[in-house]
Amino acid sequence: MRVHPALATLLGALSYTTNAVAATNAEGAVASSAAVDESIVKGAYIVEFEGDDDTSAFYKDLSTDGIEVEHRMAMNYQLFKGTSFHLKGDVAEPDVAANKIAAKSRVKSIWPVRKISFPKPDVTHVGSNVTELLQRVAKAKRQEGDGNLFTPHVMTQVDKLHAEGYTGKGLRIGIVDTGVDYTHPALGGCFGEGCLVGYGYDFIGDDDSSPVPIPDSDPYDGCMGHGTHVAGIIAAQLNEHNFTGAAPGVTLGMYKATGCGGATTNEILLSGFYAAFEAGSDIISCSAGDDSGWASDPWAIAASRIAEAGVPVIVAPGNSGDLGIWYPSTPASGLHVTAAGSVENVVLPSMVKAATFSINNGTETQRFGVRFGSPSFQVNATLPLWAVGNDTNSETDACDALPDNTPDLSDKAVLLRMPTSGSECTTETQAKNLADKGARYVLWYSQTNINIPDVYINNELIEAVGGVPSEQGAEFISLLNEGNTVTVDINDWSSAGLFIHNLDNPIGGYTVRSSSWGPTQEIDVKPQVTTPGGDILSTYPLTLGGYAVLSGTSMATPLLASIFALVAEARGTKDPEVLRSLISSTAKPNVWFDGDTAFNDILAPVAQQGAGLAQAWEAAHATTILSESSISFNDSDHFVAERTFTIQNTATEDVTYILGHTKALTMYTFANNGANVLKSTYFPNPSAEGWAELSFASDEITVPAGGVSEVTVTLTPPQNLNATLLPIFSGYITLNSTKEESLVLPYLGVLGSLHDTPIVQAGYDGGVYLTDTNGHFNIPSLANVTFTLNRPDSNSSSSGVIYPKLIIRPTLGAPTLRADLVALTDTGLPTTEWHGYQTLGPLSGFPATLVPRNGALSYFYGSLDDGTVVPEGTYKFVTSGVRVFGDASKEEDWDVVETVPFILKYKS
Ligand SMILES: *[C@@H]1O[C@H](CO)[C@@H](O)[C@H](O)[C@H]1NC(C)=O
Ligand SMILES: *[C@@H]1O[C@H](CO)[C@@H](O)[C@H](O)[C@H]1NC(C)=O
Ligand SMILES: *[C@@H]1O[C@H](CO)[C@@H](O)[C@H](O)[C@H]1NC(C)=O
Ligand SMILES: *[C@@H]1O[C@H](CO)[C@@H](O)[C@H](O)[C@H]1NC(C)=O
Ligand SMILES: *[C@@H]1O[C@H](CO)[C@@H](O)[C@H](O)[C@H]1NC(C)=O
Ligand SMILES: *[C@@H]1O[C@H](CO)[C@@H](O)[C@H](O)[C@H]1NC(C)=O
Ligand SMILES: *[C@@H]1O[C@H](CO)[C@@H](O)[C@H](O)[C@H]1NC(C)=O
Ligand SMILES: *[C@@H]1O[C@H](CO)[C@@H](O)[C@H](O)[C@H]1NC(C)=O
Repeated sequence: MRVHPALATLLGALSYTTNAVAATNAEGAVASSAAVDESIVKGAYIVEFEGDDDTSAFYKDLSTDGIEVEHRMAMNYQLFKGTSFHLKGDVAEPDVAANKIAAKSRVKSIWPVRKISFPKPDVTHVGSNVTELLQRVAKAKRQEGDGNLFTPHVMTQVDKLHAEGYTGKGLRIGIVDTGVDYTHPALGGCFGEGCLVGYGYDFIGDDDSSPVPIPDSDPYDGCMGHGTHVAGIIAAQLNEHNFTGAAPGVTLGMYKATGCGGATTNEILLSGFYAAFEAGSDIISCSAGDDSGWASDPWAIAASRIAEAGVPVIVAPGNSGDLGIWYPSTPASGLHVTAAGSVENVVLPSMVKAATFSINNGTETQRFGVRFGSPSFQVNATLPLWAVGNDTNSETDACDALPDNTPDLSDKAVLLRMPTSGSECTTETQAKNLADKGARYVLWYSQTNINIPDVYINNELIEAVGGVPSEQGAEFISLLNEGNTVTVDINDWSSAGLFIHNLDNPIGGYTVRSSSWGPTQEIDVKPQVTTPGGDILSTYPLTLGGYAVLSGTSMATPLLASIFALVAEARGTKDPEVLRSLISSTAKPNVWFDGDTAFNDILAPVAQQGAGLAQAWEAAHATTILSESSISFNDSDHFVAERTFTIQNTATEDVTYILGHTKALTMYTFANNGANVLKSTYFPNPSAEGWAELSFASDEITVPAGGVSEVTVTLTPPQNLNATLLPIFSGYITLNSTKEESLVLPYLGVLGSLHDTPIVQAGYDGGVYLTDTNGHFNIPSLANVTFTLNRPDSNSSSSGVIYPKLIIRPTLGAPTLRADLVALTDTGLPTTEWHGYQTLGPLSGFPATLVPRNGALSYFYGSLDDGTVVPEGTYKFVTSGVRVFGDASKEEDWDVVETVPFILKYKS
């Protein structure tokens, strides 16, 4: 087929910045999304040539057809020959021109240039704990001492591979991101041959305001920070905070895709992937994406092509976990791309100011951290510590006036415990009681070790306040109780250094709520595995402080790319499928955590965590290689009960494997609301009490030394579940070997038919409706409400004008979505027939293809996609969509719904 399936995206590509969505609650998510036509660069396209082609000959060819273009980017790569360009002038119907271009024999595919924002990391703190991981960290702490412990590495066994000397040396990891501050001492201090950041390119230049990219060869970033954090997770060298990257021996390449505004396009990111590939990267890591959900998305296909060509591609699936299942971003959704879900770090590294203390006037000092409050320390203070009480469980320190025998506190650093929040006693009360005894400098310690007090005191006698964690408070109190004098030395805020204190993370070890869920809309397993991405310490541009703690799948991705490098080094193979299978089969599935409570009796869905938390040492040393990293049983229409995979035994002895099955939580796509519309749900999707049964031809299999054997597994789907609500069932085939390997092979499937599920449904509950003239809160409009607009061609101010807004929340991702304008009054304009309606044509931005499940919204400004301005009158919107796995050329594969009518009037 010459025309790429994405052709219909021509004008309709949808892009929602992952974070705008994740930051809101799920019900409001559509409202925060960009309108369909705001996410593309209108009139700009990427073309892939059928073979080797000459761009200027191509442009000349277009010119003879009357299509004049302005060149954007040359995209001439081994795996992709193409170009991007703008249609010249004010082209009313870019889709018509694009269709003409697509029809040319030299064009393999064409798709619109889409705007993409780099994800802003998110932070989450709430919850409960993961016993096994905490024990492992505690053990490592005893062995290594606090100073040397970097918990993301302990959680993933990266520390064990470092101990064996593996660092990724000799390997090249190409990163596509916001650039890097290579002047950072922990990132080598230089750029180019021989430097840690050895290669790369800046695709966009430093001038964000330029309409076209102005590339240069220097990928330096001193303003965004994201790429510097990512680079440090991979390859930071040992530094003053005592951590390294997970693969500090690699050479990094940085393909910079944004300026200081954070905005980029799919053409730039795509170019970054291919340039990284051609520069000889052994692994490519990218922590960016675009809302999609589709494996057949062009960018996902392009990234997948690199993995098929032999270079592992690791990509962040996004931070849209709040939207629930079916929401991986692209290109993480690509079939051969490895998507890294995110797990909470077991500690919360907290960046505060560094201070020191000494005992009994000794010369030896110890470092500790203080969170400066308000007022902050303006002077360098060296003061003896004086504690209000010696009870570290006190809830009433200085809540009442201090006793008469209290010494003068003016030359002391006063230490006391935070009051219980919500109690009558506040830090202000405490400060007043202390000030009455002359206190000027006060340090509060927290009640528990999950935070450091951030204190604001409004008392003119108090000169400086700070907070320390409960652990530190307890250490001080215990020293004082033993009769020691403790002297603290705290510098003023501008000269005090940085200190990182590892607080307890109550949700440490669990999968991060915001980590995006799979599967793809084509029911491919996503993500593949998880790594720590929540609350991760790494390098940051020197201009922005040098170090930062960030969260997101953006942080999980470079750690997983590093694990690929370590395992590749240890095993001497770079084969993407082998590495992916090893890292997946040796991962540890996590229990289900719903954001508040952990359920130790059921594993989290494969759609959330893939195979689970990656275990690098086991992947590096496993002697068993499975032929698959996951199995999708698809939906009921495509279900094949019997599946096979192979076990390769690379050991020098025969190995027997015991096959087993561990179920994971089954979740419904829709809620059963008893109504005849399917109600979309968000995190956590409703769970279901029903699981698949698995059986094996034999529960035990012996594979000879160096041999390969085939396993046949037969799956019986769950019974007694409501297939209309599309439950997703999943679990793990387990393989326990006589060599004490314990491996998993994740699987998932959908009960019910995606094709039989209506894709659009009318009304507020159904998800497709017109919003009212209030303009806020997305309340549905009554029939025949009047919207009074500016004429589309007028210059008058649009302030106060409420435009009709069409909300479309499809039940699932929609292969193709259309929104048409149908008149109920005479317009004098030509109409065409569309599924029984006489349509004036599609609204701006439609038709759209490969629409994500979160849907689309469109404002109506009085004109259609082709620019036609419609007269005053009564109209309605008709929304139509092709069902998943449907055929757009078949009438019966479309669902068509209409909104209530509305009356259109123009001002003056
Ligand atoms: C955390 O784990 C410890 C033991 O490891 C357990 O005693 C405690 O109850 C757990 N806390 C929560 C909130 O689950
Ligand atoms: C770093 O590790 C060294 C050696 O274990 C230790 O002496 C030092 O205190 C640590 N530094 C920090 C900032 O934790
Ligand atoms: C520490 O020095 C201070 C002031 O110089 C003095 O008052 C105090 O007694 C000394 N403490 C000890 C334990 O030596
Ligand atoms: C505090 O000490 C540092 C050096 O340790 C010095 O640079 C700074 O100026 C001092 N601050 C004040 C307010 O004296
Ligand atoms: C704490 O203080 C109380 C009263 O001042 C005293 O009786 C007690 O011995 C102290 N506890 C310790 C552990 O020093
Ligand atoms: C495989 O080993 C794991 C961990 O040791 C254990 O929980 C599981 O029950 C074992 N499975 C089978 C089928 O023996
Ligand atoms: C299955 O769910 C649909 C949609 O909510 C509902 O109409 C139907 O009654 C349910 N079927 C059963 C057997 O509960
Ligand atoms: C809205 O207006 C249309 C056309 O004028 C009319 O057919 C329809 O009955 C009206 N609907 C309501 C609910 O008033």
